[in-house]
Amino acid sequence: MKADILLGLQWGDEGKGKMVDFLTPQYDVVARFQGGPNAGHTLEFGGQKYVLRSIPSGIFQGDKLNLIGNGVVLDPVLFQKEADELAEAGQDIRERLLISKKAHLILPTHRLLDKANEAAKGKAKIGTTGKGIGPAYTDKVSRNGLRIGDILDHFDDKYTAARNRHLDMIRALNDAAQANNGSPVSLDSLAELEDEWMKSIDYLRRFRLIDSEHFVNQSFAAGQSILCEGAQGSLLDVDFGSYPFVTSSNTICAGACTGLGLAPTRIGEVYGIFKAYCTRVGSGPFPTELFDETGTQIRAIGHEYGAVTGRERRCGWIDLVALRYTIMLNGVTQLIMMKSDVLDSFPVIKACTAYRINGTLTRDFPFSIDNDIEPVYEELPGWQTDLSHCTKQEDLPAAFCNYISFLERELATPIRIISVGPDREATIWRQ
Ligand code: GDP
Ligand code: IMO
Ligand code: MG
Repeated sequence: MKADILLGLQWGDEGKGKMVDFLTPQYDVVARFQGGPNAGHTLEFGGQKYVLRSIPSGIFQGDKLNLIGNGVVLDPVLFQKEADELAEAGQDIRERLLISKKAHLILPTHRLLDKANEAAKGKAKIGTTGKGIGPAYTDKVSRNGLRIGDILDHFDDKYTAARNRHLDMIRALNDAAQANNGSPVSLDSLAELEDEWMKSIDYLRRFRLIDSEHFVNQSFAAGQSILCEGAQGSLLDVDFGSYPFVTSSNTICAGACTGLGLAPTRIGEVYGIFKAYCTRVGSGPFPTELFDETGTQIRAIGHEYGAVTGRERRCGWIDLVALRYTIMLNGVTQLIMMKSDVLDSFPVIKACTAYRINGTLTRDFPFSIDNDIEPVYEELPGWQTDLSHCTKQEDLPAAFCNYISFLERELATPIRIISVGPDREATIWRQ
């Protein structure tokens, strides 16, 4: 048996949650492999909308097992809120959710450190989600992290040592922020935050905390299939994204190997998911960003506001140079195009096929996309048809099919699924 991987090819929010939920009936297990509550994965069905942050998006599909893998960083407080919301929606997840003992914990002081880091950076801030992601992964790599398995044994001492170390760091960052005319982070609410956090640690102990690498490999041995769910997008990958404006994990396909204990030889299909246009939240370069009326229209029609922070998403045309790069990095075998319906009303659709850098044309993604990049666009006629009424391939208008064929040629990869609305049902398979 193989594990298939579904991941975002742009700067996140491509619609991963919707598609994992849609594909889950074909699998036995759904496994998140990296990221944490910086993710906001939206699912819609039966007239209801749900946003998942740490719990995998296969949780609504019957009795499938869902795993939070070792590559994830987990905030127990946000996890409890998410689990409580699911319980209110009638989902009893206790038996269906497994959590890796090797996943790292996000402490209250990680969240404060995230804010203090940003304040100290001043204008150069990353625009993080403020969920403590960077500090938690920093502790993991610097071998200071606390793991879920630690809560089962002598936890208080380990916790106190970590929070004291963090407090020293926050004080130093606060000095730097003040020197930068930024606001220092207040520690006044820490006792309250810690109290809430410790209660959530007790709650977490009631879940099935497991050695997930063994579970993953035993599942294969038993003939079970796994769908691995990525968070964020490849352009936010800590190695290959628009560094330093990235997240702190490997969001690409390789992250599924380290984040689950999955051997590379086990990887089957790699579903690469992208929007028919492009968005980004937070700071950092975005060559095809639109600052005009078209960008405003895309944001309004596509409801491009963050699922986690509510921040406005920056909008622009599709960037095929970046997509070719992320398809290469991930070894994508099948593409999934989302939010096609958002472009329904536009008479002309633009697609960036190359960059002009200091007068030279390139189709390859460069070391840095910071400055001096002029996107070169190809213009295609819009379909000006309401795609949300289409339910099968034959319903799709000719101009839209033309856009798809153009993308498949440019990206040298088949587009197998088209999404034409947020609902689970608004999804079309292509032959
Ligand atoms: P994720 O983080 O990749 O799971 O994506 P998000 O949930 O953050 O953002 C995707 C947004 O687009 C959500 O609000 C979805 O409900 C919505 N969405 C997904 N697919 C479609 C689609 O095909 N058309 C439209 N109009 N909205 C979609
Ligand atoms: P999903 O899974 C979009 C962005 C943040 C910021 C940068 C670093 O819903 O697609 P972090 O908090 O990770 O340290 O922030 O990464 N970012 C996302 N943008 N979708 C996400 O997740 C994101 N997760 C992080 O806005 O620019
Ligand atoms: Mg999202």
